[in-house]
Amino acid sequence: MTDNDLVISLADVSVRYRVPHERIPTIKEYAIRWLRRRIRYQDFWALRSVSLEVHRNEVLGIIGANGAGKSTLLKVVARVLQPTSGRVRLWGRVAPLLELGAGFDPELTGRENIFLNGTILGFCRNDIAGRIDRIVEFAGLEEFIDAPLRTYSSGMYARLGFAVATDIRPEILIIDEILSVGDAAFQEKSFDRVRSFLGDGTTVLLVSHSLDQIARLCQRVAWLQHGELVTVGPPDEVIARYRA
Ligand SMILES: Nc1ncnc2c1ncn2[C@@H]1O[C@H](COP(=O)(O)OP(=O)(O)OP(=O)(O)O)[C@@H](O)[C@H]1O
Ligand SMILES: [Mg+2]
Repeated sequence: MTDNDLVISLADVSVRYRVPHERIPTIKEYAIRWLRRRIRYQDFWALRSVSLEVHRNEVLGIIGANGAGKSTLLKVVARVLQPTSGRVRLWGRVAPLLELGAGFDPELTGRENIFLNGTILGFCRNDIAGRIDRIVEFAGLEEFIDAPLRTYSSGMYARLGFAVATDIRPEILIIDEILSVGDAAFQEKSFDRVRSFLGDGTTVLLVSHSLDQIARLCQRVAWLQHGELVTVGPPDEVIARYRA
């Protein structure tokens, strides 16, 4: 594999969250303590020196217990979060499906949200208008598309997000759990769509607690534990070690 195939590179990436040590009851109290420099923080390292390279056409799965740092890793790649140290480099345009509802406004209708979300992904209005019927059809939301998003179920949210982000083949697709929210039929459909991108140049980062899903879709799997990368390798091997 040549370096031309490199799409995502993380070098020694660490993320520290600072959590106030004690509960501060009011903003006024917070300001007073801040002026007196009396806020004590507890440092929490959500990622510790993670180095990882992902190549074109690769589907990389990320597994690990709750709180292991998986979503933090995706946020760093999506550039929603700046690493405390280390370097993240990307070659390509990212379509992030981070958490339910990110990039959506609950008061707007499904249709209006397609425009909002499409714009965030970098598409122009005309372009989205030309594709909207196809997006709604894929999401299977024809009956609900002019209702406000706050009336949607979480599965419906996820379907809409997935349909918008993948209507045009993204260069880098980042999926945090959302495939698991759809019903069985939609999961199958979204799997097929992710698979249809393979070999066409799309790179996918997939976080899931469904090891079955990971095994079916990924070529390589990274296992995170307490913010550290335990291992990266073939799905069957890594999943077996993780289970043990
Ligand atoms: N904004 C934040 N401030 C402080 N701590 C945070 C913040 N976001 C995450 N954390 C902490 O960082 C750790 C990693 O969180 P992260 O969301 O990356 O885990 P995860 O692997 O995605 O877990 P899950 O499987 O539950 O989704 C957790 O211990 C969490 O409490
Ligand atoms: Mg998470």
